[in-house]
Amino acid sequence: MRDVSMAMITTVQQHILQQQQEMLKSTGREPTGTFSWLLSGITLAAKMIEAKIRSAGLSDVYGAFGAENVQGEQQQKLDVYANQALLHCLGLRDSVAALVSEEDEEPVTFNRDAETGKYIIVFDPLDGSSNIDVNVNVGTIFSVLRRMPAELGTLEESILQPGFRQVAAGYVVYGPSTVLVYTTGNGVHGFTLDPTIGAFVLSNEKMRMPEQGSYYSVNEANAAGWPEEYRGYVEMLRTGGLKKEYSSRYIGSLVADFHRTLLKGGVFLYPPTLKQPKGKLRLLYEANPLAFIAEQAGGMATYGAGRILDIKPEGIHQRTPFCVGSRREMEALVAAVSPAATSASAR
Ligand code: F6P
Repeated sequence: MRDVSMAMITTVQQHILQQQQEMLKSTGREPTGTFSWLLSGITLAAKMIEAKIRSAGLSDVYGAFGAENVQGEQQQKLDVYANQALLHCLGLRDSVAALVSEEDEEPVTFNRDAETGKYIIVFDPLDGSSNIDVNVNVGTIFSVLRRMPAELGTLEESILQPGFRQVAAGYVVYGPSTVLVYTTGNGVHGFTLDPTIGAFVLSNEKMRMPEQGSYYSVNEANAAGWPEEYRGYVEMLRTGGLKKEYSSRYIGSLVADFHRTLLKGGVFLYPPTLKQPKGKLRLLYEANPLAFIAEQAGGMATYGAGRILDIKPEGIHQRTPFCVGSRREMEALVAAVSPAATSASAR
């Protein structure tokens, strides 16, 4: 008989199933297939968003939608489309209990019992959307939480679990090619969308962030408003304190700046500023998923005074200072800024 098992390509769906088989071997727990079905909702939405972005210049989807989102930011037409695509593709999945989006003030909840509706998906549908009109990379970021059993907490309490409880996290970068990166706590894996077959195909298995890189990434226009220790840290990088010549790179699309940091190493920072003492980036759907991925790839993520994944969220749109990157740069950062960040958050 012909051997049809030879793997020519591995799609993201196959990869998840393989990971579940490994889990079965190591834990004896039978995979339900629920999780891969859930992730297929995310990849379907990502393909819809990518198709819309590719034709953006042709189909009048550039520009402002004409409303502000919950953050007081101008919604772009593509923000609205990306949000609707995710709500649609995920809302149909029985296993979803709630969907929390950057674009919506309140979570969208589904009337499903806790046994069926086991997961909460938190997402930023189109990160970096101010870059769309100038044809620069944007992305989608997502985080998956397991709903707590009713006797342990309400659905709202399940949504506000700290980041170390995430069961999966990932992002999609819509760049020269469309790349999906995810973790379920068993390493970080990257896939590239093959447009000829419409599938995300494994391109980087077990991704590791280099121990040290040669880029720092920060909006230096804000430097005058940072706590002094952050200014000192960036100055230290610039002047060879880590025995490396650094160059700066800042796209202003978190997902793209993070993707480069994951592949090339270095550090990305969005420190507290005088204008935004609690930071700018959002904990649940920006910092937490990227911190989970960074740690799984051997890097670190901090808000200055502690690990991002240990923060107990108080609100779904909460902001946080966010610094993430290679071990070498991050250890130096923690040593330089910890006391400063503590006093900044107390302000
Ligand atoms: O949170 C939205 C976002 O656009 C991120 O993608 C990006 O890292 C950041 O804001 C850029 O902010 P700023 O323009 O203040 O540097």
